[in-house]
Amino acid sequence: MFTADKYRDDFPILSREVYGKPLVYFDNTASTQTPRQVVDTVTDMYFHHKANVHRGVHALSQEATSLMEESRRKVKDFIGATSEKEVIFTRGTTESINLVASSYGALLNEGDEVILSVMEHHSNIVPWQLLRDCRGIVIKVVPILEDGSLDMEAYRSLLSSRTKVVSITHVSNVLGTVNPVREIIRLAHEAGAVALIDGAQAVAHIPVDVKELDADFYVFSSHKLYGPTGIGVLYGRESLLEKMPPYQGGGEMISHVAFDHTTFAELPFKFEAGTPDYVGIAALHTALEYVEKIGLLPIAAHEEKLLAYTTARMLEIPGMRIFGTAPGKSAIISFLIGNAHHYDTGMLLDKLGIAVRTGHHCAQPLMQALGIEGTVRASFALYNTLDECDRFIQALHRITPMLL
Ligand code: ALA
Repeated sequence: MFTADKYRDDFPILSREVYGKPLVYFDNTASTQTPRQVVDTVTDMYFHHKANVHRGVHALSQEATSLMEESRRKVKDFIGATSEKEVIFTRGTTESINLVASSYGALLNEGDEVILSVMEHHSNIVPWQLLRDCRGIVIKVVPILEDGSLDMEAYRSLLSSRTKVVSITHVSNVLGTVNPVREIIRLAHEAGAVALIDGAQAVAHIPVDVKELDADFYVFSSHKLYGPTGIGVLYGRESLLEKMPPYQGGGEMISHVAFDHTTFAELPFKFEAGTPDYVGIAALHTALEYVEKIGLLPIAAHEEKLLAYTTARMLEIPGMRIFGTAPGKSAIISFLIGNAHHYDTGMLLDKLGIAVRTGHHCAQPLMQALGIEGTVRASFALYNTLDECDRFIQALHRITPMLL
């Protein structure tokens, strides 16, 4: 049986205090904490296996290379990709999207359309705007309904033979909405477009199978998946990656270099210029094993329980406004207390030891659509407990009279 308490000792940070109060860490959407096992892999890599990868005949280099490539195989299995060639390591979700916008974008022409949604993170908006500036593509935006679900009717009406890319988040980092990505992808394909899914907020909470989804590109970050920072993944359909030009040039991504002509390496290396963070990549392997051992389904069920309990208790608080109530939403609660500024609420919670995020959450167009400047956001992970939810609720009761 899953209990969060079983895993809390793996995360030493959870036993620290903030301003003399026990820490309640509810900022998991920004970054999850890291278990000892993952940090042990980082230490082990630095102490025993540090040597540049894919470059040496010596034993250490070969060891580091195989640890990195084992991690790639693990990622492939974790997301159900067909081959390791489809797994590209990047610095994060942001870099993965920039890679696609820049490289797949180089195959687009003036007037070609890219469909985004209003709930996208800036990292799934700005790379396409940069592409618009240099290639004259047109960006279309799917709105949301009252409860924060995607307006699928509007999406259908935006699709046409001009649509070349649909790039939409799997889970909203503000509203918690879980988008019907399978249907989104199916409709994109029907229109002849490719679909990129931003899985940054999904992979640690929902089992993802890119083959079953039929995704063309699927991107996510390790640090939101109990792994190290600075590592991201781009899954790409092999046939698409094959025809895309390299994103960055440098060592490792080439087959042969001469001043008059250079040929590029095979997939996935064509997209991995320079020495990668093979230490972090090896540690991501440990993070995936950690999550798999516990099981994403029990984790999801636990987070759902915390979400339902906390939401119900929050709604008892006078002036409470929750943004995002779509059915089946992920364990993210964005809220405001009356007209109190999100920053004031966040600061008061912080003084009581509760870490939440405040602000626009890198989703300014969504804030504009909601008619607000920002929210306070609490989000849960596998190690959070009902007791922490109670402490959060008590803290809200305590600060609300100061804010209203
Ligand atoms: N994307 C992260 C968040 O929503 C940083 O907080």
